[in-house]
Amino acid sequence: MILVTGATGNIGRALLAELRGRPVRALTRDASRAGLPEAVEGDLTRPASLDSALDGVRSLFLLQGTGAEEEVISRARRAGVDSVVLVSSLTVETHPHLPAARRNLAVEQALRDSGLGWTVLRPTQFASNTLWWAPAIRERGEVRAAYVDVGLPAIHPADIAAVARHVLTSPAAHHGRTYALTGPAVVTVREQVASLAEALGRDLTLTELTREQARADMTSFMDPGTADAILDLTGGDVNEGLLRVRGTVTEVTGRAGRTFREWAVGNAGAFQFLGS
Ligand SMILES: NC(=O)c1ccc[n+]([C@@H]2O[C@H](COP(=O)([O-])OP(=O)(O)OC[C@H]3O[C@@H](n4cnc5c(N)ncnc54)[C@H](OP(=O)(O)O)[C@@H]3O)[C@@H](O)[C@H]2O)c1
Repeated sequence: MILVTGATGNIGRALLAELRGRPVRALTRDASRAGLPEAVEGDLTRPASLDSALDGVRSLFLLQGTGAEEEVISRARRAGVDSVVLVSSLTVETHPHLPAARRNLAVEQALRDSGLGWTVLRPTQFASNTLWWAPAIRERGEVRAAYVDVGLPAIHPADIAAVARHVLTSPAAHHGRTYALTGPAVVTVREQVASLAEALGRDLTLTELTREQARADMTSFMDPGTADAILDLTGGDVNEGLLRVRGTVTEVTGRAGRTFREWAVGNAGAFQFLGS
């Protein structure tokens, strides 16, 4: 039995599709809203709530970010789990000074020390982060962003899922490995907007902002530290490690990584006018 956390999210839904036909449980906080036949309820911030979901599980796909990962890992071990696939972040390698990267590294270390079989996935920024633009695209056909000509190798979440499926279904072959994952090519914000416009069949306006203007927009809905980290990682403080395309998706899955354009075509519906 495999337990997929984050099952209703970008990676999770793609991973469930990858694992179709295998014994899988899909963790969610609310099974009535998840619309998943494999759904089981549990809350990663309350590790005791996971005990029934973990019962009989051999492999755990674990998203990072909820704060109680160390206890989740301990409970997984006590429940008889053999292998954990952890979604960490490439920033552990490229921007280890950032608070989120330090936290990711601490969870990676707890997993490595746990005695469980482990594999760590360190993806770069997701193509799906552009969903942040969806309301403004729907309402005004506009994207407002800084650093619009910085190219980064954004990854399609389905490629993280494809790597995870290979690891979860042949865990011993991947135990003790840490995989840095990127998309197959760098793509700028300008190119992402062009791909979305093409997928939508609609002109979009790209308004280039200064860092200060972008920060003012972002801090209306996120804390300043998170806004600064995102601005650094999307152009203000990029480095060779963040810009470099990695071949790991192809090495693990045997197929080429998906492009941003493919992501845009597959997700155009999220950017369309309501009622159009
Ligand atoms: N976005 C990036 O650029 C980026 C880059 C590197 C790494 N990452 C990592 O990738 C992961 C995000 O993946 P994603 O985009 O697939 O996720 P997502 O689409 O943001 O979905 C989050 C998922 O987590 C579940 N969840 C949230 N809080 C939970 C809780 N307390 N207990 C149980 N489940 C909870 C939600 O399920 P329910 O609502 O159904 O409960 C949902 O399925 C994170 O670990 C993040 O650190 C992201």
